[in-house]
Amino acid sequence: MKDFTNLAELGYLVSAVLFIFGIKYLGSPKTAVRGNQLGAAGMLLAVLITLGRMGGEGILGWPLILIGLGVGSGIGLWMAKRVEMTGMPELVALFNGFGGAASALVAASELIKMAPQLEGATGSFLLSRQVFLVAIGASSVIGWVTLTGSLIAMFKLNGKIQGNLKLPTINVLKLGLLIASVIGAVLLYMDPTSVTGITLIVLGSCLLGVIFVMPIGGADMPVVISFLNSLSGLAAAATGFVIMNNALIVSGSLVGAAGLILTGIMCKAMNRPFLDVMLKAYGAADGGGSDSGEKRTVRGYEAEEAAMVFDGARLVIVVPGYGMAVSQAQHVVRELADQLESKGTEVRYAIHPVAGRMPGHMNVLLAEANVPYDKLFELDDINSAFSECDVALVVGANDTVNPAAHTDPSGPLGGMPVLDVEKARTTIIVKRSLSPGYAGVDNDLFYRPSTMMLFGDGKQKLNDLLGAVKEL
Ligand code: TAP
Repeated sequence: MKDFTNLAELGYLVSAVLFIFGIKYLGSPKTAVRGNQLGAAGMLLAVLITLGRMGGEGILGWPLILIGLGVGSGIGLWMAKRVEMTGMPELVALFNGFGGAASALVAASELIKMAPQLEGATGSFLLSRQVFLVAIGASSVIGWVTLTGSLIAMFKLNGKIQGNLKLPTINVLKLGLLIASVIGAVLLYMDPTSVTGITLIVLGSCLLGVIFVMPIGGADMPVVISFLNSLSGLAAAATGFVIMNNALIVSGSLVGAAGLILTGIMCKAMNRPFLDVMLKAYGAADGGGSDSGEKRTVRGYEAEEAAMVFDGARLVIVVPGYGMAVSQAQHVVRELADQLESKGTEVRYAIHPVAGRMPGHMNVLLAEANVPYDKLFELDDINSAFSECDVALVVGANDTVNPAAHTDPSGPLGGMPVLDVEKARTTIIVKRSLSPGYAGVDNDLFYRPSTMMLFGDGKQKLNDLLGAVKEL
């Protein structure tokens, strides 16, 4: 049995190494597929070892394990098959929440199992007791916050919750709930059977998750999503200490650290300090895309008219946004780029860090359409090129190109770096209407003299444009 335990620990070490190399390779689009495969292989190894331990040592027994595997895999497969590509961000948010809940539930079950042995602990067992109970408290508080926060984020992403909760005392409420949850954890530390402790943790943390995400919205959602992702990793790492599983400690810490780094990147993308996003609720316009109510008219162009501006163009910059994901226009974007390149036009893609609804959303879609990675440019690397480009082709992007970020510093987009598409000689915008983007801010760009609006579904309109460009 001891040999198997040593072998299992060695296996966990191998899976940890696979996770670390997996993350390293995920750092570049060129190696990302290999990184994903390494991470998946590491997780498969860790799962097999854990199953071997639980089944082999008779902790749960194979029938129960197989039923759990069957039910879980069945639900996962059904959800993954059912979800539309545009529903992926919500699904990811939901899975994030489930990760937090799973950690908290494992912690709760271990507490129930171990509580009788913990009373009156002495000697070296006393130290294990202390580590165990601190880990239980951390896993429960972070896990429940992650669950309810992620559920609210999911409803905000799919538009079922619109607008942002505004209460003058909201930060006091958040602090109160945090203190209540921590008091619950302390009570549990002193008495592992404390019902008041468990109640305070569950109620306080669940409410905290709701109150923490409700005031944040609009363009600030990417920061919250990345932070919740990080919290789910930290909850898993804490649960790793509860059940003393090294693979869980390592993988949870990696997710936690990666999520924190991503949160930092998103804050930089928004040009806002983390604490300001969490406490000030910038995105306080009616996030979710309500109309501003202002009535201005604008002329819509036909694809044939728009195609003319590509004639003889030297540089075209494509700016994809959430609407490209909705209409699944990435393949026709690539075809149009191929067509332009065959006529000697250089085509580049400008990727805003918060475009779409999940980190890397545009990169994933363009990779699916086999757009070469070296044609994708990040905001800082491409913004100066707009003044030299003949056409900026905006496909379903709105907030990420909205000049209100510069002109209205106190507005929901104020201060956020945006792609300066208005500096192009001509800006073609493909979208269905004049409605605002996710942050609910009207976009003055639509009314500029150098802008051509191409109204309609992204894929349909780009197909029309492609046809017209071929005719040139
Ligand atoms: P948005 O500002 O959300 O605008 C997308 C535009 O796409 C909409 O104005 C919509 O206009 C258009 N659209 C929708 N369906 C379309 C279709 N079938 N064909 C053509 N156009 C269509 O997009 P963005 O510029 O990518 O900015 C992203 C926003 O989401 C930012 O505010 C960001 O902070 C936020 N956000 C990002 C994330 C992450 S992690 N990336 C997560 C949550 C929120 P019409 O209705 O007129 O067509």
